[in-house]
Amino acid sequence: MRRTYKKNNSKKSHPENEQPVDIAELLEKTHFETIMAFSEALEARDQYTAGHSRRVMEYSKGIGQRMKLDKQDIEDLKRSALLHDIGKIGIPDIVLNKKTKLTDEEYTTIKSHPETGAGILKYIKAFKDLVPAVYHHHERFDGEGYPEGVKGTAIPLHARIIAIADTFDAMTSSRSYRNALSFRSALSELERNKGVQFDPDIADIFIEILQESPFYFTRFREPEYHL
Ligand SMILES: [Fe+2]
Repeated sequence: MRRTYKKNNSKKSHPENEQPVDIAELLEKTHFETIMAFSEALEARDQYTAGHSRRVMEYSKGIGQRMKLDKQDIEDLKRSALLHDIGKIGIPDIVLNKKTKLTDEEYTTIKSHPETGAGILKYIKAFKDLVPAVYHHHERFDGEGYPEGVKGTAIPLHARIIAIADTFDAMTSSRSYRNALSFRSALSELERNKGVQFDPDIADIFIEILQESPFYFTRFREPEYHL
């Protein structure tokens, strides 16, 4: 015999049973989920960078917490980190997933991604605070980076943090064209590039975190790791 079930609308007819909805909390959650969706959309295009944005977010958060940035600042940092490469969504697959050395022209195309990313985010009012970090995440402390070649502490703080987290994760990840560096070699690279590619104070903070707990480095690579 086929059973039918009545939809229970009792809560609708009894407002006292309804749970109060915290609109601010709901908006905040939706905001973060939207960013996650953007980030996943990018990572779906390139299997070699799977999990990269989330690891960059976790490393950046760790640095921000150690620097005692305030809560909102850390939230913005996490979101910028998740979206730092969103501009790569505009790079053709043939360039983005190329397994051999890039031509100069292709490298120029890749280098356009911070500008493209900032261009995408500026249209969303809720993301406007994330634009400077996304736009400047490939600047170098010595001024030899891109897109503007800004130098030292003139580079926005979140961009200086993400630059370190991003490079460390890239160094410790295997790509189709090279193997990952060991944890120790990646640490030496961070040390060697202090004041050159990276803000030396922030690099010191990250080195300190990694030396205190190498587990910090591996935990975000576990398959069980989810947000
Ligand atoms: Fe990037």
